Amino acid sequence: LFSGSRNSHSEWDNHVHRLFSSIAYKYDLGNTLISFGLHMKWKRAMLSLSGKLFDGARIIDGATGTGDIAILAKKICPSAEVYGIDYTPEMLVEAKLRSCRLLKSGNDPLKSDVIFIESDIRYLSMFTNGYFDLYTIGFGLRNIENRASALKEMRRVLKPGGLLSILELSKPVPFLVKPFFWLYIWCAMPIFSFFFSGRLTSYLWLAQSLAEFPTFTALKSEIEQAGFDDVKRTLFGLGVVSLIAARAS
Ligand SMILES: C[S@@+](CC[C@H](N)C(=O)[O-])C[C@H]1O[C@@H](n2cnc3c(N)ncnc32)[C@H](O)[C@@H]1O
Repeated sequence: LFSGSRNSHSEWDNHVHRLFSSIAYKYDLGNTLISFGLHMKWKRAMLSLSGKLFDGARIIDGATGTGDIAILAKKICPSAEVYGIDYTPEMLVEAKLRSCRLLKSGNDPLKSDVIFIESDIRYLSMFTNGYFDLYTIGFGLRNIENRASALKEMRRVLKPGGLLSILELSKPVPFLVKPFFWLYIWCAMPIFSFFFSGRLTSYLWLAQSLAEFPTFTALKSEIEQAGFDDVKRTLFGLGVVSLIAARAS
């Protein structure tokens, strides 16, 4: 596990950091339960739709958490150089343990390892400009304070023509789905949170950060301002999850 930088001590960052360090060891189980097992399907779709998993591709998964996307990319494309970056060491320990288990496993093994780096994704000074072909970020952008600087850094480390692929919760559009979605987010989630983590608030952050997250149109303009074009969105699960792809210009 390499160590990069975490130049961030704001209240927001301390909160995010505390939250994920406290739930790290059961984060994967929590994700599977609250998404009814669908999160892996969405992550797989994100990678297969990217079209960037070629031999020798350089891939970075920002806010990698327990490393699902980075590990999956490495499994699909063993010759790719894959990095997983996160600033919560407890999440990275889980990622590393999982990749070590998979390296030794006889069943669906990893052939070579992912490189996990503890760092703030707003400051990736260990990578030169234009190093990567693909930048993925799954359910992470919502958690990042100062999105503009994170997007700018994503653009910097991508090659011109490189792809940014963002998987994120979104507010569903279909009229009939909306009330059930918000009921699930605001009511079921705190109950789940209480039984799962012993605190009402752990999963309340999810609801809060989602409520404050920009609409696609606003996010598209933030992405374009950071130096991307061709910003497109694909909806999954009745619009509960969005895959946003953008090309580094
Ligand atoms: C909801 S988890 C997502 C984990 C994983 N990508 C997934 O799809 O399950 C969000 C992660 O973002 C990380 N994070 C938030 N802000 C960050 C930042 N500025 N730099 C690096 N990691 C950050 C947190 O530590 C946490 O592990």
